Amino acid sequence: MSVMRTKSVEQAIQETEEPEHQLKKNLSGLDLTVFGVGVIIGTGIFVLTGEAAQESAGPAVAISFVLAAIACGLAGLCYAEFASTVPVAGSAYTFSYAGIGELVAWIIGWDLILELLIGAATVSVGWSQYLGVLLDTLGISLPTAISNAEDGVFNLPAALIVLALTAVLVTGVRISSRLNAVIVAIKLLVVLFVIVAGLFFVKASNYTPFIPPSKPSEGESGLSQTLIQAVFGSGPAAFGVSGILAAAALVFFAYIGFDVVATAAEETKKPQRDVPRGILGSLVLCTILYVAVALVVVGMQKYSELDPEAPLATAFRDVGHPLFADFITVGALAGLTSVIMVLMLGQSRVAFAMARDHLLPPAIGKVHPKFGTPYRITIIVGVIVAVLAGLLPLSALAEMVNIGTLFAFVLVSISTLILRRSRPDLDRAFRVRGLPVVATLAVVACVVLMLFLEVATWLRFLVWMAVGFAIYFGYGRTHSRLAHGETEPSPAPARVD
Ligand code: ALA
Repeated sequence: MSVMRTKSVEQAIQETEEPEHQLKKNLSGLDLTVFGVGVIIGTGIFVLTGEAAQESAGPAVAISFVLAAIACGLAGLCYAEFASTVPVAGSAYTFSYAGIGELVAWIIGWDLILELLIGAATVSVGWSQYLGVLLDTLGISLPTAISNAEDGVFNLPAALIVLALTAVLVTGVRISSRLNAVIVAIKLLVVLFVIVAGLFFVKASNYTPFIPPSKPSEGESGLSQTLIQAVFGSGPAAFGVSGILAAAALVFFAYIGFDVVATAAEETKKPQRDVPRGILGSLVLCTILYVAVALVVVGMQKYSELDPEAPLATAFRDVGHPLFADFITVGALAGLTSVIMVLMLGQSRVAFAMARDHLLPPAIGKVHPKFGTPYRITIIVGVIVAVLAGLLPLSALAEMVNIGTLFAFVLVSISTLILRRSRPDLDRAFRVRGLPVVATLAVVACVVLMLFLEVATWLRFLVWMAVGFAIYFGYGRTHSRLAHGETEPSPAPARVD
């Protein structure tokens, strides 16, 4: 069956040697960790902590962060083994092309678009909201028509930040990773500041009850209940154990991006060593910071009083420190900038790999002769993200990002296991101990989180998948390089760098 055709791992690696499709190998393990942290810490901790605590989990939102981290950690281990076996651009997409087959690879690539492209648009809307807060402090207010897609017409700041970052990405990964390192340093400083300064304002009484008892949630029914509630007919509920899980499914967004490290494998000096380090290192660091931030914030303010839009900054303002709040706002703004940038970088690399395989038109995968970046794809991605960011409200798509990513994680975990069985001979710089158990637990953890997402999210996801199938069967299946029996790299022009 043609949809099951696989590309061999050797072929995947060999194709990266083709000069016109070759990316520069500039990045080290530290660069990758910085990339990881740059994309992981963002809207999830700066914004969603408030909503998750207030509406679903109460102070136990800290437990939700741990649960989401466990799911990511298990999938991350599989990712790390896969990335160390198949160190080429495209992340989970490429891995599964080698592991399972073309159709599954396409589905994963299509889900990664959901994660990265819509994720970038979502975060840039959050960025624009923080900019609004900052401008307010400075006494400047932008007209609603051009600053907000929900109440106005177009979110111009969101679109502009995306286009500016696109220009940075086109000029080369090295410049972008340097800029990113500066931003990541500022962001880490702000997060550490929240933890240390916040400790002085923690009140023990805010922690009780730590797990508020389950109660029916107001005004939620039908499409806005979680899938598990719809299936078991238990009706919408908040708090309690299911509240902790629903909050975990939401704050999962806070971890999105650690897998982007794997998309940069091909641009890494020693991918087999550095990619697993980058993935797991950034994940562990972020988990510790998130749990600490969550505990401090719900200790500073009663969970029911947290601000769902800017909980970290508002908590400090409410305890009488507006200057601290301003500092956090500026840091959040810088932090969200790096998230948008790395998400777009990952997206352009996934689309690049798809174009190289001719599942997308190959012409868009050309690498820039001077900068060594896939500039055409980067520009296309930038324009699409800018338009989405300008037109869409943040809340509508955040859960979509989560469901697409979780589904991709499920497929990656299964693919890792299949590749271990089908190609035990391949070099694996990083091997997961007890892979069958780890991969199975990863699948279970991700599926559980998916069940705690809303019915509406599931329906949108099904539509997204249907569109993906239509594109694959209408274009990719017939144009694919494998469909044309190309098992060797195509003849290449002179080297470009
Ligand atoms: N993990 C990223 C964030 O929280 C996407 O913004």
